[in-house]
Amino acid sequence: MVGSETRYQAFLKALGKDHLRRELTPVDPSGARSLQVGGKAYVNLASNDYLALRFHEALIARSAEWAGRYGTGSGASRLVTGNLDFFEPIEVKVAQLKQKPAALLMASGFQANAAVLQALFDRSVLGAEPLVFADRLNHASMHFGCKAASVHQIRYRHGDAAHLTDLVTQFQEDSRPKFILTESVFSMDGDVAPMDEIAALARTQNATLIVDDAHATGILGEGGRGLSDGADIVIGTFSKALGSFGAYVACAPTVRDYLINRCSGFIYSTALPPPVLGAIDAALDLVQGMDEARTHVANMAARFRFGAKGIGFETGASATQIVPLIAGTADAALGLSAKLREAGFWATAIRPPTVPQMTARVRLAFTAAHNDADIDRLLEVLSECAVSNTAKAVLS
Ligand SMILES: Cc1ncc(COP(=O)(O)O)c(C=O)c1O
Repeated sequence: MVGSETRYQAFLKALGKDHLRRELTPVDPSGARSLQVGGKAYVNLASNDYLALRFHEALIARSAEWAGRYGTGSGASRLVTGNLDFFEPIEVKVAQLKQKPAALLMASGFQANAAVLQALFDRSVLGAEPLVFADRLNHASMHFGCKAASVHQIRYRHGDAAHLTDLVTQFQEDSRPKFILTESVFSMDGDVAPMDEIAALARTQNATLIVDDAHATGILGEGGRGLSDGADIVIGTFSKALGSFGAYVACAPTVRDYLINRCSGFIYSTALPPPVLGAIDAALDLVQGMDEARTHVANMAARFRFGAKGIGFETGASATQIVPLIAGTADAALGLSAKLREAGFWATAIRPPTVPQMTARVRLAFTAAHNDADIDRLLEVLSECAVSNTAKAVLS
């Protein structure tokens, strides 16, 4: 073992001791509702496929058709020979869904946040290090983008528009470019940022509002357009409610042009492959007409939250299809996840550093493939699980 490896091994050992070591589990999806692990079937409560589109026949058909017609890869970056002729029509559809003037496709949600933020915060272009106000619980990829741009984030308390206002007004006279960075729906809590207040503040303070709409696009907002109406720049992904992979930035045409010229993650990365683009294109054709599925998911999540709270579980400020069962310690979250698995539900324990210390949880995500009987059975199983006193103590 070379020197560095012994260090990695020691790191892994320490994680294991704290119940924080992560492992990959091979799964066999048997449709949008369930999966099999080691030959046993589970109801899948750990997928972000909120509209159950990843097994939709239209997505599969267009994906296969485009693979046959255009090949399995794009062959190059879009600035070389990878700009196949359907990219721009897809971007028009994205811009229309998001109600923004333009859009640009990116490789993945993580890559988009990492690369786009780095480019947008470029001090050599802005003339100074920008002032970046960021929600404390923003996704790891947003932190990554800020770090890549070497900007110091001014963090405000999670979802706290008043705190954000205080911080921004302290810099009112500062002429450096200001940005506000938030998710619309937070991935681990399922709560919604105060978008209207944040957007109004951004307008009055001349700050650029950048919103990661990953967990709202497709499933929330009118026609599934998400919750980013007040944003200047929206970053989102096709890997969640839209059922496939890849990401987008929806923005002004100038910002799109700037990214084409300055965003290294766009310039130096091979364009998305045609089968993925086929699935994206088909999902964009379907999504606005899926109100019934959206209502079904919202109703199930609301009924589940009501039931779970009634039997003593802590679901935080969840108001969407994402519902955490906050257990406290990593050990408690792992124990709850194991109990659910015994009962045939696949739900993942989420531990620090993904969530703050002592708020380890089991994250549940409801999708259009679930049904009311799944919710009833889930609540029945939970009523047999002991409620974590640690979580109650931490959150009270
Ligand atoms: C808020 C948020 N942004 C970005 C991402 C990354 O998206 P992708 O899975 O497409 O890389 C995720 C998903 O993990 C997310 O939850």
